Amino acid sequence: MSESESFFGDPDPIFADKELLRVSHLPEGDRIIGRDQELQKLANAIKDAQRGGTPNNVLIYGKTGTGKSLCSKYITRDLTQAAADNGIKVGVAYVDCFQESTETQTVRTIAQALNDPTQTDITVPHTGVSTSDYYRRLWDILDARLDVGLVILDEIDKLEDDNVLMQLSRAAEAGKVTESTLGVIGISNKIRYKDSLNERVKSSLSERDFVFPPYDANQLREILRSRADAFREGVLDEDVIPKVAALAAKEHGDARKAIDILRYAGEIADEHGDDTVRVEYVDEAHDREEQARLSELIAKQPEHSKYLLQALSLQAQEAPDDDSAIPTKDIYSMYELVCERNGVDPLKMRRVRDLLSELAFLSLIEQERKGRGKGKGAHTVNQLVDEPEVVVEACKSA
Ligand SMILES: Nc1ncnc2c1ncn2[C@@H]1O[C@H](COP(=O)(O)OP(=O)(O)O)[C@@H](O)[C@H]1O
Ligand SMILES: [Mg+2]
Repeated sequence: MSESESFFGDPDPIFADKELLRVSHLPEGDRIIGRDQELQKLANAIKDAQRGGTPNNVLIYGKTGTGKSLCSKYITRDLTQAAADNGIKVGVAYVDCFQESTETQTVRTIAQALNDPTQTDITVPHTGVSTSDYYRRLWDILDARLDVGLVILDEIDKLEDDNVLMQLSRAAEAGKVTESTLGVIGISNKIRYKDSLNERVKSSLSERDFVFPPYDANQLREILRSRADAFREGVLDEDVIPKVAALAAKEHGDARKAIDILRYAGEIADEHGDDTVRVEYVDEAHDREEQARLSELIAKQPEHSKYLLQALSLQAQEAPDDDSAIPTKDIYSMYELVCERNGVDPLKMRRVRDLLSELAFLSLIEQERKGRGKGKGAHTVNQLVDEPEVVVEACKSA
């Protein structure tokens, strides 16, 4: 390599602005495709906040990649601006409840997001404060500097207890805040989330609820097209976007999946030293996306679920091709070995059964009840949904 050459190579031959293909990228309203109705309903539900009134609490359901997080962030930002034009101060706190799953973490995150210490003289330290003190500071912050606080609780089903929902959804009514008011937007991928709540929380939290339907191939195509300027002009083969959209539509219309596959296709072209993103790269991009999604999903599982997946993978690899459905009892013995290798104590069988059902719920494995023959009762067999090699790989990187 000569001295003048950079290790980072020439300007990117494929991407003009890769940020447009990041999940966290928040497109402008006119670039949000096929969600006019949902945005309008959300706007109606929270519109009282525009004049300083109390917004309705909202629950939003829908599968992953249906635009729930995007629309919630967009509509609250839009509301904040509209309210500012009326001289009303709205603050928005976004909480990823997977990251902040305890009551204390949630309240702290909200208080920190809504605070501005130069205006309130209130601090929200990371440690050394009790949960009830975090609440007190949050109410003080709201009253001191805002007319309305809006809290987005994303992946709300990951919260460890209901108390924070009770506190937030009834703050105004319970007189915790007097100079301001508060609204909650809860988001969940689990359509039955509401069933798990106690009646009081349920009725105050879900004054309105909405379901976001999956996108069809046309909408996905449009979503991808509206981000085509992530690529340099002319590098994207014309069949790439339709193919990516068709693949993602087949698997429950997930916009995030579609955008990820498109980005991987560009990266693969780059790795081949090609200056064109060809339709041939899309299948490999799809595989890469699956692997990444699986790693991400597995990474979120408790430690022992990962050991169970490893145990099941090991057994599936040993099993003859035609029979990779493994009885729970057999998984358990392999699981004990995996635990030993990792220097941890195995959980009891009962708990293992629970973890396996949770893995089945997430479609990481499939379960089936089988009869053992006359008078011998039934037992459960378990099977990986993905290839064992892929799962082992994902457990490693998780
Ligand atoms: N209607 C849409 N128009 C444009 N981009 C979208 C649309 N819906 C989703 N996206 C994009 O797809 C990705 C996944 O959307 P997200 O809101 O995170 O889905 P969810 O929260 O339902 O899982 C994000 O990058 C988002 O910007
Ligand atoms: Mg989301």
